[in-house]
Amino acid sequence: MSVRPRCDRTLAWRALQGHYQAHGRTLDLREAFARDAGRVDAFSCQAPEVFADLSKNLWDLATHKLLIELAGECGLAERRDAMFAGEAINTTEGRAALHTALRAPRGSGAPFANEVHAVLDAMLAYAEQVRDTAASGIRDVVNIGIGGSDLGPQMVVPALHGVAHPQIRFHFVSNVDGHDITPVLQRLQPASTLFVIASKTFTTQETMANAAVARQWFVDQGGRDIARHFVGTTTNLAAAAEFGITTTFGFWDWVGGRYSMWSAIGLPIAIAVGAGHFRALLAGAHAMDRHFATEPFERNLPVLLGLLDVWYRNFHGFTSRSVAPYHQGLKRLPAYLQQLEMESNGKGIDREGRPVGYATAPVIFGAEGTNAQHAFMQLLHQGPQAAAADFIDASVNERLSANALAQADALAYGTADATLPSYRRHPGNRPSSILKFKAFRPRDLGRLIALYEHKVFTQGVLWNINSFDQWGVELGKQMAQNHLSRST
Ligand code: F6P
Repeated sequence: MSVRPRCDRTLAWRALQGHYQAHGRTLDLREAFARDAGRVDAFSCQAPEVFADLSKNLWDLATHKLLIELAGECGLAERRDAMFAGEAINTTEGRAALHTALRAPRGSGAPFANEVHAVLDAMLAYAEQVRDTAASGIRDVVNIGIGGSDLGPQMVVPALHGVAHPQIRFHFVSNVDGHDITPVLQRLQPASTLFVIASKTFTTQETMANAAVARQWFVDQGGRDIARHFVGTTTNLAAAAEFGITTTFGFWDWVGGRYSMWSAIGLPIAIAVGAGHFRALLAGAHAMDRHFATEPFERNLPVLLGLLDVWYRNFHGFTSRSVAPYHQGLKRLPAYLQQLEMESNGKGIDREGRPVGYATAPVIFGAEGTNAQHAFMQLLHQGPQAAAADFIDASVNERLSANALAQADALAYGTADATLPSYRRHPGNRPSSILKFKAFRPRDLGRLIALYEHKVFTQGVLWNINSFDQWGVELGKQMAQNHLSRST
C-alpha cells in the first residue's frame, strides 16, 4: 500500500487551516440559512433508506470540498478497498478486518464466503430450534460476555423488541461484580435456561468468572445436561470444549470484538428475532457496505460523517460528541458506540509507530431521547464550549421526531431575544447532524450500525491509525491480575 503524507502535512489540511481561520471559525448557521434557501438540499445525503440532514453543521461548500480533498490525499479509497479485499490492515496483529464479509450475501465474491455461510446457516438453524419453545423448553437466554461480546446483542435485542420472540426473556451479564449475575440467576430455572458464553478469546477474566458462576449455579440447582444448556460463541473452540461446552459457533481472528455482532456473537439476536430478521439485519448492513464502497465521497454518508468529525476535532478543537437516538429500544446505542469509536480510534501512535501529533477520537457520550434532554443537553445548549451532536430520528412516533428536530433547531438557532435575561438566552450556532429513518426495521438497524462502523474507519484512515487493535486495554488487565494474585 502506498505511503501517504501525514494528514496534517497534506495540502488540503493547510488549506483547511486557512479556511478555518478566514471563515470556518466565524460561520454562523443563522446567517448561512438566511443566505441560502437551498442549504438543506446542498448539505443532505441520502444513503440506503437513511436520510442525513447535515445542513446544521458548521461548514460551507468550501469546507465540504476541502475535506473531500483531504480524504483523497490520505488515500481513503485505497484503504477502504484494502479492507474489503481482506488485506491485513490490522498491522499490529497481522490480521484482516473483514466484518463486511460477515454480511455479504452468498455469491457476492467477499472473502471467506464458504466459512461464513456455513456458520451462519448452522447458527440460524440452532436459533430456530431454541425458538421452538414447545420443543426446546427454553424460556430464558443469558448472554455472558463483555465488551464486543456483549454490547452488540445487548443493544440490538431491545432495539428489535417489536419482532422478538414473545415467550423468551433475554438477560445480559457482563460485569465481574456479582451484583450483575446474582439477580439474573435468582429469576431462572435451570431446565428452561440457555447460557450463551460469548468470548472471542474464551480467556477474558470477567466472562470466565461469570461462566463458572453460572455453571456452578446450574449444577447446584439440580440442572442436568450442561452440554444442552450451555453454548459457546468463540474463536477458541478448544477452550470452550474444556469448559464442557459441546455446541459452539465459531468465528475468526479477522472479526474484531467490537465488530462481531454480525458473527456467531449475534446468536442471542438470532434467537430473539429469528433467522429471517437476522438475515435482514445483515442485508441492511451490506447495503451500507455497498454504499460506502461505491458512492463518490461527495454523496458517501459514512465518509461525510467521518470528515465532519475530523473538522470538529482537529480544526474546531471539539473534544466530545454526543449521540441521542430517539428510540427507547436504542438506549444502549451510546454505550455500543463508545466502544466502537473510542476503542477503535482512541490511539496516539500512527500506523508507522510514530506519535500522531494531532487529536484523534473525541469522547463519545449520549443517551436515548428524550431522556437525554433532561440530562446532559443543558451543557450542549448553554455550556461555554460547543460539541457536535448526532440525533437519530428512528421515526418511532411523532412526539419523538418533533423533539429530535426541536433539539437540532434550538442548538442551531438559539434565541436572539434581547428582552430575555442572559441566563435564559441560548447562544445557538451549535452543530448537529440528523439521521432520519423512514421506519425502524431490522434492516434499518443494520444500516445504522454499519454506517457508524465505516464512519469510524474513515476517521482512522485520515488519522493514519490502526482502528482494529486495542492494546490500550491490556496493561490494566495485567495489573488487575497482579493485584489479584497479591491479595489471594
Ligand atoms: O476490552 C477489551 C476487549 O478485548 C474488547 O476488545 C473485546 O470486545 C472484549 O475485551 C471481550 O473480549 P473477548 O470476546 O475475547 O472475551
